[in-house]
Amino acid sequence: MRPEQTAAAHPNIAFIKYWGNRDDALRLPSNGSISMNLSGMETRTSVRFDPELQQDCFTLNGEAQVGAPLQRVSQFLEHVRKLSGSGCFARVSSSNNFPTGAGIASSASAFSALALAASKAAGLDLSQKDLSRLARLGSGSACRSIPDGFAEWLPGEDDGSSYAVSIAPPDYWDLADAIAVISQDHKPVGSSAGHRLAHTSPLNAGRVTEAPERLATCREALLNRDFERFAEVVELDSHYMHAVMRTSTPPLVYWEPATEVLLWQVWQWRKRGHAVCATVDAGPNVHVLALSNELDWLKKALAELPGVKNVLIGKPAEGARLVG
Ligand code: PMV
Repeated sequence: MRPEQTAAAHPNIAFIKYWGNRDDALRLPSNGSISMNLSGMETRTSVRFDPELQQDCFTLNGEAQVGAPLQRVSQFLEHVRKLSGSGCFARVSSSNNFPTGAGIASSASAFSALALAASKAAGLDLSQKDLSRLARLGSGSACRSIPDGFAEWLPGEDDGSSYAVSIAPPDYWDLADAIAVISQDHKPVGSSAGHRLAHTSPLNAGRVTEAPERLATCREALLNRDFERFAEVVELDSHYMHAVMRTSTPPLVYWEPATEVLLWQVWQWRKRGHAVCATVDAGPNVHVLALSNELDWLKKALAELPGVKNVLIGKPAEGARLVG
């Protein structure tokens, strides 16, 4: 056991999305995914295992958590206790500098920071692969926030082979994510529940079967810094996921009217020659991926669109790390 350890991690935006599991308990995904860590937005988490505690304690943004959030953290700490062979409960204190649960992947930064801080505090020194596997057990997309920059989650066959690797460092491509925040409310159906509905959509089998092709196109476009090709496959993949969501039983509709208006606007800008494209996660907010030289006008133009409350900017960032 070590003294308190603090880790920081960024959320990530998926270019090729993870939606649906082959194994819900182990969070083994139906398909691989590719993402970029987002600078500027961050979760910081401190963990200390304490032999005096009778149960785990978890505070988020200064507020003590009970019920489902505490249970999820506690369940995750069970994996760490199993790995380290210790039965001690822990004090976990976490803070986000961006809205929680609104399609900005707070669970990704949360569980990647928790995996690093908790494993270190428990006396473990896990490899990056094993840290990514551990983070995956808390939230699938969290495995992609462990490595640096642009990451690919290899779906794998089992717990040992499902983890994320860096495919390019943060400075590889001057890409940015301008997030048009339409709502900061908690989403009505969380992604864990959403993943369980994916197989109820008649469109899901096609989405999964064709995923390797989209992954290859995205990986290649990214490595060649080919924005046109990248934009096409990113938008196709986002629409595929939302089509699956909308045709699930019961249907999942995360978009708001403003989401649709923004997507239309981004297409108009691209038609006029701007390097911009859009992707949407499990929430109404629109992530506008753009070459950095588009940011000045883009930030202003997005902020002026109806329904946009705020524009957050994320650039390619490092993976999870220990902080003092
Ligand atoms: O990691 P989860 O269970 O929060 O799922 C994330 C799902 C999406 O954000 C919609 C897609 C993705 O790949 O990040």
